[in-house]
Amino acid sequence: MSKISEKIRYVGVNDLKKSIFEGMWPLPFGVSYNSYLVIDEKVALIDTAEAGFAAEYMDNIRRELGDRKVDYLVVNHMEPDHSSLMKLVREAWPDVRVVANAKTVPMIKGYYGITDNIHIVKEGDSICLGNSNLTFYMAPMVHWPETMVTWFGEEKTLFSGDAFGTFGALEGGVTDSSARLTGSTDHADSTFSAFRDEMRRYYSNIVGKYGQTVQAALKKLSGLEIERICSTHGPVWEKNIPEVVGYYDRLSRYEAEKGVCIAYASMYGNTSAAAKALAAELEKRGVPHVLHNLCTESVSYAYSDVFKYNTLVVGAPTYNNDIFPPAYNFMYGVSARLVKNRRFAAFGSFTWAGVSVKLLNEMASRLGFDMISEGISFPQAYSPEKCDMAALADRIAAAL
Ligand code: FEO
Repeated sequence: MSKISEKIRYVGVNDLKKSIFEGMWPLPFGVSYNSYLVIDEKVALIDTAEAGFAAEYMDNIRRELGDRKVDYLVVNHMEPDHSSLMKLVREAWPDVRVVANAKTVPMIKGYYGITDNIHIVKEGDSICLGNSNLTFYMAPMVHWPETMVTWFGEEKTLFSGDAFGTFGALEGGVTDSSARLTGSTDHADSTFSAFRDEMRRYYSNIVGKYGQTVQAALKKLSGLEIERICSTHGPVWEKNIPEVVGYYDRLSRYEAEKGVCIAYASMYGNTSAAAKALAAELEKRGVPHVLHNLCTESVSYAYSDVFKYNTLVVGAPTYNNDIFPPAYNFMYGVSARLVKNRRFAAFGSFTWAGVSVKLLNEMASRLGFDMISEGISFPQAYSPEKCDMAALADRIAAAL
């Protein structure tokens, strides 16, 4: 399971214990923290893993290396799910030289108190392991300022950090010839299709704001003849590289497929009834759609579908003369992700003064969304007479 090639070994771990990633994002299928060894006359370790997996992680490395030592620790990314075991690696092999760029150095000091034996690299620099060379390219804001990627040219392998990563622990193997999404009952026809939804959820939840810098990184890397991508999360991509890179390209351009994400929040069921009525009308018209209740489910899934579909419809009652907070928070997150090129409509109930639709429209307008309608703000209880979802569904279908 750990052998990617003669020189590249997988030493990462699966996390099936944590239910929420970064304190926000559900992990129904777990997550993997991928780390790799490149073994030549010298040995390089690429990134580490999360703090709770110290023993398993160190066992994985020692199983591959036996009595040999790690010479270099390459730090592509400092987020603690990949850097937490850096100090332990230093303790196990005190001479290990940390390879990092200048932006990483203060983070290493601040998180782990390490200040010595650091080899600072800049764009295009390389280290030589014997017959293998590792070259470093900066990928700032994908999705932290210090992020870089490592290119192992002799094997046309890109160690990409979080880029091209997915949620989901790995079962059956680690490459896309063998890996399965742990716990999934979906019988997908390829590893890419099995992991695609968890890739989009990871991208939209965590990287989504940085479409522009992801595009810059993709452009920079487009000259490399990549035959293998070793990300820090999810499968090692070998067979599905065009699909994976193409999907990342589309996500970071905010390109979406035809369909509707209905995200709603409801206090007493009236806005909810309107949301369900809209879903039923879209169903009748054969328009692909999903319905997300922002009061009862994690916003993680709604963000993922905002990145999937080209139309967003948000439902929220008026609350404290404002947008009902679960829907406001959701739209705040859509705004924070700088989502572009969407069609938009809003609806919601009120009791004595309706402002939520107007305010939702203003948030959408600031993002440059195309307004499908002026929205539907209806008083008190939902009824088809007060809230004409058939007419809205007609407009949505026409705008698709
Ligand atoms: Fe998987 Fe940005 O850390």
